[in-house]
Amino acid sequence: MYTQAMDLAGAPTLAPASTPEEAAFNARIAADRKVEPRDWMPEAYRKTLVRQISQHAHSEVVGMLPEGNWITRAPSLKRKAILMAKVQDEGGHGLYLYAAAETLGVSRDQMLEALHAGRAKYSSIFNYPTLTWADMGAIGWLVDGAAIMNQIPLCRCSYGPYARAMIRICKEESFHQRQGFDIMLALSRGTTAQKAMAQDALNRWWWPVVQMFGPPDKDSVHSGQSAAWGIKRISNDDLRQKFIDATVPQAELLGLTIPDPQLKWNAERGHYDIGPIDWDEFWRVVGGEGPCNRERLATRVEAHEAGAWVREAALAHARKQGARARKRAA
Ligand SMILES: [Fe+2]
Ligand SMILES: [Fe+2]
Repeated sequence: MYTQAMDLAGAPTLAPASTPEEAAFNARIAADRKVEPRDWMPEAYRKTLVRQISQHAHSEVVGMLPEGNWITRAPSLKRKAILMAKVQDEGGHGLYLYAAAETLGVSRDQMLEALHAGRAKYSSIFNYPTLTWADMGAIGWLVDGAAIMNQIPLCRCSYGPYARAMIRICKEESFHQRQGFDIMLALSRGTTAQKAMAQDALNRWWWPVVQMFGPPDKDSVHSGQSAAWGIKRISNDDLRQKFIDATVPQAELLGLTIPDPQLKWNAERGHYDIGPIDWDEFWRVVGGEGPCNRERLATRVEAHEAGAWVREAALAHARKQGARARKRAA
């Protein structure tokens, strides 16, 4: 259900080329062939990818924090092992994505500095708190579920290193979504208090997740050009609709109520209609005023500083190895 229809209908086309290199680049995009790091590419294409891939990497790494909060309090050894594996996967996703962005000529230090200084964005969803164990279920089910919707089309994005990183990431996200759903299922089949905990988590996460797909198409600044470049293949509103259509029956199976009194199947459109989205809240959180923005960034900076000795030790080790290899070769 998470892998249907990977193409944007009627994608806008590129402006005519003014140089032979640009013509070759346009032809590559038109033929749906991948652009690789050594190929000529327009500066704006490179910059867009650096912004998007680094924001994506930051989201993976900051996304470890809300769930990391519950590793020590998981309700069983099995749940703890699963959650640890999931959080480690997110760290791995960050690493593949930083490596993909580095092929575009930006260093990991530069990207991290932009994150830590508050200049680079990450997904706003991670600025919400995780109050109960049911939040681990809601995050996996809804946040990872929404991430899959966003990321499946990126497996076919025009930039080779990004597209290839996304294939493995999507496989892991699929496991994350299932483990979240499994937590929700256990809670909703549990005691009255457990079911209430699952409902409360759904109530708090639903709207921020619906907002995760980004502003409506009519207000989305980067979408048109990104679609022409073969980076973005499905619009924000279409992705949001696909997510809602897939998720409503899952909530029904859990016996939980989606907190939207206007949610209704529209037989004519063949989709669910939803109530109004609070975009003021979305922009407030993007602008740094969410419940946990400051805490997340402070934790991230602290972790980076506390890990300085590991980076120094790895560099010292690499220098030693290099010196030994040179000695042997001499
Ligand atoms: Fe991830
Ligand atoms: Fe994930």
